[in-house]
Amino acid sequence: MKKRLSMLVMVVAAFMLVLAGCGTKEGGSADGGKKVYKVGTEATFAPFESVDASGKIVGIDVDILQAIADEMDFAVEWENIGWEPVFQAVKNGEKDLGASGITITEDRQQEFDFTDPYYNSQLVIVVKEDSPITEDSQITPLEQLKDKKISVQINATGHVAAQKLQGEKSTNIFAYETQPIAIQEMLNGNVDATIGDNAVVYEYIKAHPDQKLKVIEDKTFEIEHYGFMVKKGNKELLDLLNEGLKKIKENGKYKEITGIDIK
Ligand code: ARG
Repeated sequence: MKKRLSMLVMVVAAFMLVLAGCGTKEGGSADGGKKVYKVGTEATFAPFESVDASGKIVGIDVDILQAIADEMDFAVEWENIGWEPVFQAVKNGEKDLGASGITITEDRQQEFDFTDPYYNSQLVIVVKEDSPITEDSQITPLEQLKDKKISVQINATGHVAAQKLQGEKSTNIFAYETQPIAIQEMLNGNVDATIGDNAVVYEYIKAHPDQKLKVIEDKTFEIEHYGFMVKKGNKELLDLLNEGLKKIKENGKYKEITGIDIK
């Protein structure tokens, strides 16, 4: 009886070995021999990422990452999965990195690793053109929003700023899936103001010249830095990205993409 049992164990073990051998190698397939990294994003965030008429994801993040990939000889495969899923997918390994105008924050650094900063950003307030909220007042524009209804993109830095101002449990904060929806809600009159990333807000206004909007800058918003985000401890990919980023800053490619001379 005992002998039979050990035979069975051996057969099962051998079977499992064969199965393991059949599995594909972890971490992406080959693309002309290149390693492919899977990228998650939320692509309603022009000029950093948006979907063009042909359904392609385009923008500054795409161009920067592609330049890094070319430099370091790897390939990237983008997918527009939504803002909060970006964080989940990088955490559980479904995606190798998040590239989505993601601000490097201390909170996020507890759970993820970030590349060196590749773009600076600052939050701005957006209101309707005829809004009473103004820069020319004794109190800062942000303080004028203390008791006002604010729309934000959920769990974005604008959301955190609104919570800091009004308290986490405030019922005057309305969080939406995307930045453009948050702006739309303000235009529809459902809230008094939106808080969002400056470059994205200005790009939105450029694309919607008919909508009567006013942007209010507030110096009390901190300067933010965007970084590419990887799973905590994925040093291999982090080093690759940082080295590529350094190279494209040095060889002029970064400047070509962004118009900014960062050297
Ligand atoms: N920079 C802000 C943050 O990290 C907003 C980013 C939103 N990005 C996007 N692709 N929707 O919280």
